[in-house]
Amino acid sequence: MRLVCLLVAILIVIPAVSFAAGAHESLNCTGCHGIHTAKGDLIFAIAPNQKSLNPRTKKPYTGVTALCLGCHESAEKGGMGIMPISAAMSHPYGIAPNPKVASVPAVALRDGKLGCVGCHDPHPSNPNYKYLRVDTKGGVQMQKFCSMCHPSKSGKKILRKEIFNSMDERK
Ligand code: HEC
Ligand code: HEC
Ligand code: HEC
Ligand code: HEC
Repeated sequence: MRLVCLLVAILIVIPAVSFAAGAHESLNCTGCHGIHTAKGDLIFAIAPNQKSLNPRTKKPYTGVTALCLGCHESAEKGGMGIMPISAAMSHPYGIAPNPKVASVPAVALRDGKLGCVGCHDPHPSNPNYKYLRVDTKGGVQMQKFCSMCHPSKSGKKILRKEIFNSMDERK
């Protein structure tokens, strides 16, 4: 199992290095979606991470968040060590939002929870900095992104059309 993970990691990381421009571009769709060899929902190519625990619930993550963490977590926490995200020191995710703290647009929720795809749309068509759902001009206007869910803190509300979403093909 370790060896398989390592091989997969090498196969994924090497093309990522040679085509550094769009980080997920190198995954070529099938790096995330296993067309006939899927391991989970959304025909995902990577098994969901069941080792990394949500500090709020002390349970493993579910849904898309567990899939992202199959790559973006350290090996000891069940990931592949690709830009690992540590939930112990992160903005909360894998939680149903407290409406007093955040006003999350429906387009950003999955099963009533804020997960990775609440803030990121990971598809290669997303031109925004770090695959964020709002254009921050390369991270310079991060406040604009935060205002998507925390408008009272930033003083402005983001328009629906400013939220990047590749999940509806009827456009
Ligand atoms: C980094 C991983 C990743 C890559 C690369 C990726 N996807 Fe996805 N894909 C996802 C995730 C995660 C979702 C669910 C997103 C959400 O819920 O917002 C998804 C959802 C989808 C869906 C919608 C499924 C549904 O049930 O509505 C389609 C279709 C899709 N991807 C096609 C593609 C195509 C085509 C490519 C290549 C151009 C691609 N994906 C590349 C991770 C990826
Ligand atoms: C199959 C493994 C894999 C999965 C699954 C995956 N990613 Fe990635 N991701 C990568 C690689 C490879 C990179 C580029 C790493 C590098 O450049 O060192 C990357 C980079 C990123 C970056 C940084 C982009 C930048 O411009 O610096 C973000 C943000 C990101 N991923 C978010 C996500 C989210 C959110 C999900 C789940 C929806 C996800 N990824 C799922 C492999 C993956
Ligand atoms: C509340 C919003 C939010 C959530 C939820 C979120 N992210 Fe992010 N993420 C960001 C922002 C903002 C940045 C860019 C930070 C910066 O560049 O200062 C980022 C950056 C990243 C990067 C790039 C890190 C680097 O070193 O450049 C990766 C990879 C990533 N996120 C993956 C994930 C994954 C995987 C999840 C779910 C487990 C997730 N994110 C959940 C907002 C979020
Ligand atoms: C897609 C929605 C969304 C975006 C975008 C977002 N947040 Fe949040 N934020 C939330 C949710 C949901 C919570 C958790 C509310 C709860 O505790 O139930 C939260 C909580 C927080 C907290 C409290 C953390 C804690 O431990 O209690 C801070 C601080 C915060 N966000 C800052 C930010 C900043 C700064 C940005 C922009 C870089 C940002 N958020 C972007 C949805 C979002």
